[in-house]
Amino acid sequence: MNAEKQNKEAVIRVENLSAHFGKRIILREVSFQAFSNEITVILGRSGCGKTTLLKHLIGLYPVRQGRVEVMNFSLAGIEEDDYHQFALRIGVLFQNGALLNSLTVAENVAIPLEQNTHLPASIIDYLVRLKLHLVELENAADLYPTQLSGGMRKRAALARAIALDPPILFADEPSAGLDPVTLSALDELFLRLKHGLGMTILLVTHEVPSILRLADRVVFLDEGRVLYAGPLTGALESDIEPIKEFFRRELSLRSLKGSSSLQSRK
Ligand SMILES: Nc1ncnc2c1ncn2[C@@H]1O[C@H](COP(=O)(O)OP(=O)(O)O)[C@@H](O)[C@H]1O
Ligand SMILES: [Mg+2]
Repeated sequence: MNAEKQNKEAVIRVENLSAHFGKRIILREVSFQAFSNEITVILGRSGCGKTTLLKHLIGLYPVRQGRVEVMNFSLAGIEEDDYHQFALRIGVLFQNGALLNSLTVAENVAIPLEQNTHLPASIIDYLVRLKLHLVELENAADLYPTQLSGGMRKRAALARAIALDPPILFADEPSAGLDPVTLSALDELFLRLKHGLGMTILLVTHEVPSILRLADRVVFLDEGRVLYAGPLTGALESDIEPIKEFFRRELSLRSLKGSSSLQSRK
């Protein structure tokens, strides 16, 4: 369950990160740390800035105000060569990070290996099988994305995201559209990556059961501000009203969803 208090190393350091689109301020002096071999969940209401924050952490948006350090890379003003090295060391699983439908599952997972290594095809093939085995898709290697269920597609995208064995994985709402059983299978995979491979994971999710299963630490955003950053237990016991309301609301939505198959939030 929760990570033991060891002398953990901060692998992500965010200090006073602010961002705006035009005149609208989206992130307001965001500061937090994420630690090695932990799962940090970023949460908060829709539109509070979670995706924008994640995009700054992976260098998709430039850091203009504040500091972002991921591993030993400082992302503000990062040079192109360094950014390339950085990009090779992170895995990214985004909601719309679609698989290429014209390629098989195995061919999709092979893309990062073909583009970024000089390994012979036989070794790439071997590494791809290994990753597919890890996400329990070894029997789907030769299928096309359209032949897969939503959960299988998500696992294939995960295999592709970790093809180069990144120490850190970023995932933005990977749970979207998954039923509870499929979702808990995906959560098991995240735990396998953490416990089995020592991966550090930054995850955006609304799903309270996932948060309870996975989070060592949470960062709670509200209108671009950090209301809380720290261990999960602290968030669950928080007296801060929007945090209490989030857990109350998400839990009651879940019980509604459970009682009627017609309920849907999206
Ligand atoms: N590219 C963009 N241009 C302008 N506004 C944006 C852009 N991306 C997001 N926003 C706005 O920024 C706010 C935060 O968005 P986002 O980070 O996607 O929130 P979340 O992921 O928490 O739902 C929203 O109000 C959204 O409309
Ligand atoms: Mg989002």
